[in-house]
Amino acid sequence: MICVILVAGHGRVLEDEIKNDASGCYSNLEGVPKSLLPGVGGKRILDFWWEAINTRQVFSDVYLVTNADKYKYYERWATANDFPVDNIVNDGSTTYENRLGSVGDFDLVLRNKKINDSVMVVAGDMLFQDHNFDITQVVDYFKRKQGELAICYEMEPTELSRSRGIVDVCPVTNRITHFTEKPNHDEAMSRLASVVFYCFRKQTLPTITSYLNDHPNVVERNFGMYMEWLVNKSGIEVYGMKLPTGFQLIGQVGLHEYKKWLEYFSDKQLQQGVKEAFTATAYARLGLMGNPSDGFHGKTISLSIANFWAEVTIKESERLILVPHPLNDPTEFGSLGDLHGISRKEGYFGGLRLLQATCKKFYQYCSEQGIALPKRNFTLKYDTNIPRQVGLAGSSAIVTATLKCLMHFFDLTNSDIPQPMQPQFILNVEVDELFINAGLQDRVIQIYQGLVYMDFSREVMRSKGHGEYQPMEIGLVPPLWLAFVRNPSDSGKIHSNARQRFDSGDPEVVGGMKKLAELTDQAKEALEAGDVPRLCDLMNENFDLRRSLYGDDVIGELNLRMVELARQFGSSSKFPGSGGAVIGICRDPEQLPFLKAAFQEEGFVFCHVIPKQESVAATNHPHISTTPPPHDDPAHPPNNSEEKWQEVEVTEAGDKATSGNDQNLD
Ligand SMILES: *[C@@H]1O[C@H](CO)[C@@H](O)[C@H](O)[C@H]1NC(C)=O
Ligand SMILES: *[C@@H]1O[C@H](CO)[C@@H](O)[C@H](O)[C@H]1NC(C)=O
Ligand SMILES: *[C@@H]1O[C@H](CO)[C@@H](O)[C@H](O)[C@H]1NC(C)=O
Repeated sequence: MICVILVAGHGRVLEDEIKNDASGCYSNLEGVPKSLLPGVGGKRILDFWWEAINTRQVFSDVYLVTNADKYKYYERWATANDFPVDNIVNDGSTTYENRLGSVGDFDLVLRNKKINDSVMVVAGDMLFQDHNFDITQVVDYFKRKQGELAICYEMEPTELSRSRGIVDVCPVTNRITHFTEKPNHDEAMSRLASVVFYCFRKQTLPTITSYLNDHPNVVERNFGMYMEWLVNKSGIEVYGMKLPTGFQLIGQVGLHEYKKWLEYFSDKQLQQGVKEAFTATAYARLGLMGNPSDGFHGKTISLSIANFWAEVTIKESERLILVPHPLNDPTEFGSLGDLHGISRKEGYFGGLRLLQATCKKFYQYCSEQGIALPKRNFTLKYDTNIPRQVGLAGSSAIVTATLKCLMHFFDLTNSDIPQPMQPQFILNVEVDELFINAGLQDRVIQIYQGLVYMDFSREVMRSKGHGEYQPMEIGLVPPLWLAFVRNPSDSGKIHSNARQRFDSGDPEVVGGMKKLAELTDQAKEALEAGDVPRLCDLMNENFDLRRSLYGDDVIGELNLRMVELARQFGSSSKFPGSGGAVIGICRDPEQLPFLKAAFQEEGFVFCHVIPKQESVAATNHPHISTTPPPHDDPAHPPNNSEEKWQEVEVTEAGDKATSGNDQNLD
């Protein structure tokens, strides 16, 4: 791809006003062409462009076209900035009256340099916000779209439509449906302005010549009018890409405007100078009913809990850094024996890869959608206390929190990545990038939080492109307990073949999954009716069905033991994930202390579940935001949530904070 920078305009108004300025402040700028005037921070306007363009070999050649009047200035600039002087084209004009027009100048470069390639063309005298776009993203999007590309920006309220090329962009395809060059009225127009910043495919370049042939008058030989003509032309598709910066100093502007916009962009730079640190939290989840995950087109009810969470923090930094977690991504060890012990117990999968994969997919998603990201570096770090490998969704919590951080950092909202699509994004990170075998359930509850009924049936997924997610009143959840194995690597690790059997249409598995979905619907009714005994029966049925589908070898001895213990105390029980942990409801609350003691004596970790409300603010810390659970445990009179959390935290400090390797989520 070739880049052409247009700086052949004759900025006579600005030049005259600088010359005649009585204050004397601008005397050193007399005769200097607009693009070489100082921009924000004193750096010249053209330097901003050259820096944006001259990155990572996006272009095989860059040309600059200027007029004869200012040619010398650019020759000097080129020498000082490592720009090849041979690539400067002189259009021979010395006054505004004998100008070629921007399309004429562009045509001159195409002919003079015999360009037969796709081309990006920019007006090098426009002021913009530094670092607020990445030229590679623009080029990637252009190549993806297989059409022409016009960059646009959202005008400031004070800017008049009649001073710009106004575009209407289809929100779905991003195709420009209308292009109106300097409309002569301001009402009811789109506020998206197109500027001289385009990408053209090789096969479209001949239209330049035909346009010039049909438009001999120089007044019509500007890019705005050419674009209006091009957008109307059949067989041509022009796409719009919106950048998060405005562009100014277009056309014949005066000293007043130069001062105003310089100040405006300097202020913006200051305001956005450093993004404050931001922390996002995602909570562990319990599958209350249904098959975990559920990648089997079933239905589930899921609950997020405040007992365990993952936290990711993003802050702006000079370089882009992912910080390894001292416990989960160890890089230093006490000895070789120590390394052996840690690797055997924890494996090789820390959380750092989750951050990296999320960042990679995020960039990819934005490039595909034409969402331009400012060029800013950041530091990401994470922490988690979600016990790993017991099916509480530890790794997707880290991915979820990372996504929230990135969206915040780059000012994206649910309109850029619609909320129902966010779980799919998270799942794609894990499945495509990290080969974690999983379904949507965990990601849905971590995005929505609270208590959510989910329907993943084929028909719904096909018609909506995502599941049906119904938030439920969190107060409906009866007091729940949670127990999990201390050392998950001891629990049975036999791979299930349920997936293959399901895919090959095994009637037992297909029927079983259907039955699990029915149990979910019944559990929803029981919850809504406050029918706890019925809910208990359904949970047990859920477990028994899973056991018969997967077999005792897959379920594992320790998991069976936990269920057995629960039943001895008249409690219902099922896995909140696919094993390693058990949740239950005590039919007789008096039994709860005894149940708890029994679990603890056998070495299991036991805690009282604290449901996590759905919340608006992603950063609420669980200690503050959690309402005490509707709990009535005689052994724990009005237990506040903080104490409960600490009970687990303190007694299990050794097992706390590991993540990743949730590869057996179903
Ligand atoms: C431009 O290159 C293509 C091959 O990529 C060739 O077919 C075409 O003839 C070339 N056009 C000109 C004007 O040289
Ligand atoms: C483009 O088409 C619109 C109507 O769709 C028309 O109003 C406008 O004048 C056309 N512009 C050019 C340059 O042909
Ligand atoms: C980001 O970091 C790299 C070095 O890691 C640096 O070269 C680049 O200029 C930084 N970008 C910004 C916008 O600060």
